[in-house]
Amino acid sequence: MIANSVATGSDLPGTGSPAGRRSSDAGRPFPLARRRDVPYVPTAEPVVEALLDFAGVGPADVIYDLGCGDGRVVIAAARRGARGVGVDIDRLRIRECEWNTQRAGPGVAGRVRFVRGSLFDVDLREATVLTLYLMPSINRRLRPRILREMAAGTRVVSNYFDMGDWKPDAIVERHKRVLLLWKVPACVEGRWSCVAMQPDGARRRMVLSLKRRYQMLAGTARMGPYEIPIHDGRVDGKQIMFELPRRGDITGGRYEATLEGNCLRGTFHADGTRATPWFGARTGP
Ligand SMILES: C[S@@+](CC[C@H](N)C(=O)[O-])C[C@H]1O[C@@H](n2cnc3c(N)ncnc32)[C@H](O)[C@@H]1O
Repeated sequence: MIANSVATGSDLPGTGSPAGRRSSDAGRPFPLARRRDVPYVPTAEPVVEALLDFAGVGPADVIYDLGCGDGRVVIAAARRGARGVGVDIDRLRIRECEWNTQRAGPGVAGRVRFVRGSLFDVDLREATVLTLYLMPSINRRLRPRILREMAAGTRVVSNYFDMGDWKPDAIVERHKRVLLLWKVPACVEGRWSCVAMQPDGARRRMVLSLKRRYQMLAGTARMGPYEIPIHDGRVDGKQIMFELPRRGDITGGRYEATLEGNCLRGTFHADGTRATPWFGARTGP
């Protein structure tokens, strides 16, 4: 159980971190003008565990909690073997984080780091999981940074609040709280030069022009003389999927692929035939 008690007096020692750093607050002057954008309301302990289960947090993860309060989400993730970073603008909250880390049991202090600062200044590139209990307007402001900085397939979970027109990939209700999950979609927009094996063994060239909005994929496939609009296009982390209808002698079917660097590798499923491989290389924006 994480205590809610408030440490007073001199700063508690830093918590250590994956990189061996200490809390960033150590005696640094902090402008009074910087204020909370969201009030402090802690997530209930059973909901913390549900949130971590929902995001599938495990030892391979690096979790960031923006507006971390008393550190309970990051500390609970560290108990699962994850590394974690919590950021809060409130000095008192960071002291609570440090106090709670000291009482959290073996191994936790070496896996967590708490930073006093603005959640808008945090570099998110290291995070594999981002947890938020903020407000919709704050989530919307964070959205471009999440999409730009976090790797494809990394997860964002929010206690209750949505992300505007970026619809969640999953929603659950746990302990009477609505929890939302997004998977950061791969940046696959642009032109792709592709080769797809046909069920009859022929190799067919295809130029894909893809546009992505959040998880939705649109665009066209040029095959022979045809410019074919893709249907039901979706991005799920590093994976893409779309349908091409039959056109002339071009066999229609479902394409799936995984993004690996600047390449797409996957399979083509034509109705009633075995899956065949296809490959794409990025050729332009
Ligand atoms: C609703 S609480 C969530 C606490 C914690 N994440 C949890 O789930 O228990 C929001 C937290 O965000 C912090 N906060 C508000 N504005 C902030 C900002 N601009 N930068 C960093 N933290 C902020 C508050 O101090 C508060 O601790």
